[in-house]
Amino acid sequence: MTETLLGIPLDRLVDREAIELARRAGMSVVSYRPEDFEGMRRAGRIAAEALDLMVPEVKPGVTTEYLDKLCFEYVLDHGAFPACLGYRGYRHTVCTSVNHVVCHGIPSDRALRDGDVVNIDVTVIIDGWHGDTSRMYYVGDVKRKAQRLVEITYESMMRGINVVKPGATTGDIGYAIQSYAEGEERCSVVRDFCGHGLGRVFHALPNIVHFGRKGHGTQLRPGMFFTVEPMINLGGHAVKVLNDGWTAVTRDRSLSSQFEHSIGVTPTGFEIFTLSPKGWHCPPYDI
Ligand code: MF3
Ligand code: CO
Ligand code: CO
Repeated sequence: MTETLLGIPLDRLVDREAIELARRAGMSVVSYRPEDFEGMRRAGRIAAEALDLMVPEVKPGVTTEYLDKLCFEYVLDHGAFPACLGYRGYRHTVCTSVNHVVCHGIPSDRALRDGDVVNIDVTVIIDGWHGDTSRMYYVGDVKRKAQRLVEITYESMMRGINVVKPGATTGDIGYAIQSYAEGEERCSVVRDFCGHGLGRVFHALPNIVHFGRKGHGTQLRPGMFFTVEPMINLGGHAVKVLNDGWTAVTRDRSLSSQFEHSIGVTPTGFEIFTLSPKGWHCPPYDI
C-alpha cells in the first residue's frame, strides 16, 4: 500500500491532485484481500453510526458547528479518528453542505432554518482503515421540490452501486447514475467532484465519476474499495468554490443534494460498508 506518492504524503493532497499524480505515476488500483473487508466494516460502521446520531439532532435553530462537535466526540469515543481533521488544513470532523452548497461546506455558528436540506459527510479512520459516508437531512418542513431532489439523489447512488460486480466498469456506474438523474429525472450530475478509491488511504484510485458511458473506465475486480457519492443539482451542473477554498456551490444557486457510501467489490457483486444500523437510509427518517 502506498502511503506517499512521488514523495508527498497522500493525505496532504486534495482528491484531484492525488488522482492526477497517481495516474501520471502509473499507479494502479489496489485490490485488497478478503480479510481486509473486516477493517472496512468496522470503519464504515462507526461512520454510519455517527450519521445515525445526527438524525434527532438536525432541526431548526441548531448550528452546524454543534453537529460537528457531536460527531467529533462520537468518533473519538469509539476509538476512531476523524480523517478530515487536519486534512489539507481542514479543521472539522464533518462537512455540512446546506441547500445550494454542493459539498465541503464548513461547519459554522450559522443556525439551520426550517425548510433547509443539509448533507452531513463524515470520514473516520480506525486501525488504518477509512469509512466515508454522507446523507441528506431535512430541517423541519421541507418543500416537495427539495424532497424530490433528495429522493432522486438517493436513488441515483443506489442505481450506481447496484451495477457493481467483477467485470463491470466505472463507466457502468456513471452511466447508471447519469441516465437516471439526467435522462429520466431532468436533474444535473455534478462533474467537478467524484467518488474515489479508499481503504488504507482516504483518496485513491479508482476515480468514480458519476456520469459516463457503459463499458468505459476501469474494470472492477474483487477487493476494490471505493465510494459512490453523486452530487445532483436541480439546475445546471456547474459549480464554483468560494474564497474559503472549500465550500463548493452551484453557479446558478439551485439546490444540490448528495449521498455517499463506501463499498467493496465482492466475487459476486458488492458489499456496502456504511449502511445505517438504524435503517435510516434516506429521509424522512422514522425516529
Ligand atoms: N468526505 C469527503 C469525501 O467524500 C472529503 C472531505 S475532505 C475535507 O471525499 F477535508 F473537506 F473534509
Ligand atoms: Co468520499
Ligand atoms: Co465523504
